[in-house]
Amino acid sequence: MTETSTATTGEELHEYPMRRGCPYHPPTEYTELAEEGPLSQVRLYDGRTAWLVTQHKETREMFADAKLFSSDHDNPAFPILAEREKNFPEFTQELFGLDGEPHKSRRRMLLPRFTAKQVEKLRPMIQSVADELIDELLRHEGPVDLVSVLGRPLPSRVICKMLGISYEEHELFEVHAQGIMQAPDLEKAVEAGRELLDYLVKVVQAKQTNLGDDLLSTLITERLNTGELTSIEVSKLMVALLIGGQETTTSMIGLGTLTLLEHPDQLAMLREDPELLPGAVEELMRFLSIADLTTLRVATTDVEVAGQVIKEGDGVILSTAAANRDPGAFEDPDAFDIRRSTQGHLAFGHGPHRCLGENLARAELEILFGTLFKRIPTLRLAVPMDQVSMKVGMTLEGLHDLPVTW
Ligand code: HEM
Repeated sequence: MTETSTATTGEELHEYPMRRGCPYHPPTEYTELAEEGPLSQVRLYDGRTAWLVTQHKETREMFADAKLFSSDHDNPAFPILAEREKNFPEFTQELFGLDGEPHKSRRRMLLPRFTAKQVEKLRPMIQSVADELIDELLRHEGPVDLVSVLGRPLPSRVICKMLGISYEEHELFEVHAQGIMQAPDLEKAVEAGRELLDYLVKVVQAKQTNLGDDLLSTLITERLNTGELTSIEVSKLMVALLIGGQETTTSMIGLGTLTLLEHPDQLAMLREDPELLPGAVEELMRFLSIADLTTLRVATTDVEVAGQVIKEGDGVILSTAAANRDPGAFEDPDAFDIRRSTQGHLAFGHGPHRCLGENLARAELEILFGTLFKRIPTLRLAVPMDQVSMKVGMTLEGLHDLPVTW
């Protein structure tokens, strides 16, 4: 049964977010709502309503129009999905929560390090991190939790190396990123965010006397030393990278491994032909759409979309999971098929806020999955599928842990 509540009009509204029944399939309510039309009103936890967009065409167009659909987290009308997300403005303003020129100028400061060409140069470093972690995994005897031995450390070690921060700090990164994204309540999330910011300001100060050829050194010489940014602003940019890149990649590693293990025919094809790896990662991105609950907007003016009038100040939820399973955009969308064309999938968003780290994410996932299934061909789940514990009520779709053996 679907949870609903009664709107002031007497109309029954679905409560949002809805839950996934299976870790890799979107909530079934998305399909029901999409059949009624591209836009549906839903009820948020705080009683407000918002528009849930479920079809690919409208989602893509609305992503692209940042003037009509703003990301301004400071706008009191900006939709929030849970109490603990109220702290997000303070820590995410630097990129996710900005519009227009201020957003563009911040994005430009990071972009040169995240182009496909630059990320290509990072592949040997990412490969050596993946090799080390798999060596560590193989030192265990039997069931291990893949999320904690590979999923968490891989992205944090990689981003530490990119930033030029010592490897010893990586645990702090993982703990704080989890603290912000997964805290049970607002107070804990705010505390984790403050601690992280205090700590990063000290990292920036230490780096000033130890500059190198890394991202943080570039930010210091080109932005901090020129007076363009303060050390707190530099730290907030690092927080944005952490929030954007840590839990997302961890989720993709856990859920991606599970999906491949649960589709042995697809995994066998991938093993036979490693050239299928980039397509397989792209299909995992589409199929899993783990950042489904993160792409929120607020309407800046009254506007009509697909016959519905969205009022200024209305919250909008651009569901990447629903759009990526739209049969109008992808044939047989609920099938996991690593050979399909995934062109136009929206798992990394679209438009001005499109994922800054998409090339890095692809490289990390291609290297990790390629190496994991080559080095451990007998990898399998250590518990029945129905005992795999999914995260519920969190900002990103993912797994608490993934017990595996070989
Ligand atoms: C692994 C899977 C990943 C997924 C599914 C993902 C998804 C997304 C999505 C959907 C957005 C758009 C948000 C919006 O429109 O409001 C986004 C933005 C962003 N992502 Fe990712 N991301 C991933 C990995 C990464 C990585 C590895 C990094 C960097 C280390 C990163 C950094 C960012 C940043 C900084 C933004 C904000 C861009 C802006 O506002 O201009 N992401 N991501």
